[in-house]
Amino acid sequence: MKSEMHNDILKILVTEEEIQARISEMGAELYEKFQGKNPLFLGVLKGSFVFMSDLVRACQVKSDVEFIAVSSYENAMASSGRVKITHDIQQDITGRHLIVVEDILDSGNTLAFLKEYFKTKGAASITIVTLLDKPSRRTKAITPDLAGFTVPDEFVVGYGLDYCQQYRNVPYIGVLKPEVYSH
Ligand code: PRP
Repeated sequence: MKSEMHNDILKILVTEEEIQARISEMGAELYEKFQGKNPLFLGVLKGSFVFMSDLVRACQVKSDVEFIAVSSYENAMASSGRVKITHDIQQDITGRHLIVVEDILDSGNTLAFLKEYFKTKGAASITIVTLLDKPSRRTKAITPDLAGFTVPDEFVVGYGLDYCQQYRNVPYIGVLKPEVYSH
């Protein structure tokens, strides 16, 4: 496929094939845990939209889908620490088993905030699923219940992850060339 962005990528960390194979495993694992429980897949926008669409199709449990949009980076390279809800959930989650879907767990600020928020809204259980885990940057005591891949402390884009809102549609996880973000 032709790409205007591939040339900006220094290296590929996780290929499309590796992502799909891992999502199949994750879907099967979630199936075993949630069959008969009617879970709610709750995606954290924007980054999770690509992963969410693949994950829900890899896990054929009766379920529904919801989104919340938050932002803490505001186009910066590091989290500001303040999490802002920019689009709230549109339904009552009291008593629901939540599968919270993230593209990346980095400092943990976003999920630490959201976990508390969903608890106050009465969720029966909260399971955190992230495609990427970057434990080296964690500042909050939060761990994923299920993670696709552990990544090193490099700035990653693609498969939903952005740099200045771009590169989300790159189909793999890659590292940008330094010259792309150094000016
Ligand atoms: C990214 C990502 C996670 C969060 C993880 O979102 O999608 O939600 O950062 O980082 P943390 O663990 O340090 O909180 P971002 O705020 O960049 O918004 P986006 O999803 O719209 O890209």
